[in-house]
Amino acid sequence: MKVIRVTSPSEGALLAYSHVKQSLEKGATTFGLATGGTPEELYALIRESDLDFSKCVSINLDEYVGLTPDNQKSYHYYMKENLFKAKPFKASFIPQGWESDATKEVSRYEDVLKKYPIDFQLLGLGTNGHIGFNEPGTLFTQRTHKVALTKETVEANKRYFDKVEDVPTFAYSMGLANIMEAKEIVLLAFGHSKAEAIKALVEGEQTTNVPATILQSHENVTIIIDADAASLLSETVE
Ligand code: GLP
Repeated sequence: MKVIRVTSPSEGALLAYSHVKQSLEKGATTFGLATGGTPEELYALIRESDLDFSKCVSINLDEYVGLTPDNQKSYHYYMKENLFKAKPFKASFIPQGWESDATKEVSRYEDVLKKYPIDFQLLGLGTNGHIGFNEPGTLFTQRTHKVALTKETVEANKRYFDKVEDVPTFAYSMGLANIMEAKEIVLLAFGHSKAEAIKALVEGEQTTNVPATILQSHENVTIIIDADAASLLSETVE
């Protein structure tokens, strides 16, 4: 894992942008995308750029169960507003949160992932070390699944909803095994709330208690963190 410390989330977004651009220039055609507050600045940079994704495919990590695409809290809506309206892809895939048959949806998404192997995967990080919606305890062999969200995740994500009771308690998510199949991974983490998870990821043992530690075994991962997210790291670690 390459760990790069930046002085601000804006600098982190710029660096992530350069990774996306390079990857595109080198011929990447399938991009795994993340939602949340962390990549918003990166998506703004992409929107304002001349990057062209019209021959590319995007595959999102996850979606809340029960939300339809027109729901402003859904990741479908987020992606449309933050990226797809300005930068359409040839095809974009996001788990269908409105599908009540989990077996059907999981198998549909696995087929998508089989058809389009991910060249470049963008990741954020949950305060509890989750990636996608793979919560602590998820097996490293886990593929796409329906997830019961932990209390901590519901708490962390309530800022996007009017009240905590509105936060969905289930999600569909790519599994850790799917994420590890990406050729290149860039993980962004900014702010104090990510410091513990970053310490575990960068300096800790590999453990299913911190799902992101699976990335320690990937050959091409770049972790971009600001000073707050890096605040619990030993000074010597770079
Ligand atoms: C959410 C998403 C993740 C995201 C993470 C961090 O629950 N499922 O994909 O990376 O939590 O979110 P944020 O960037 O808003 O801190």
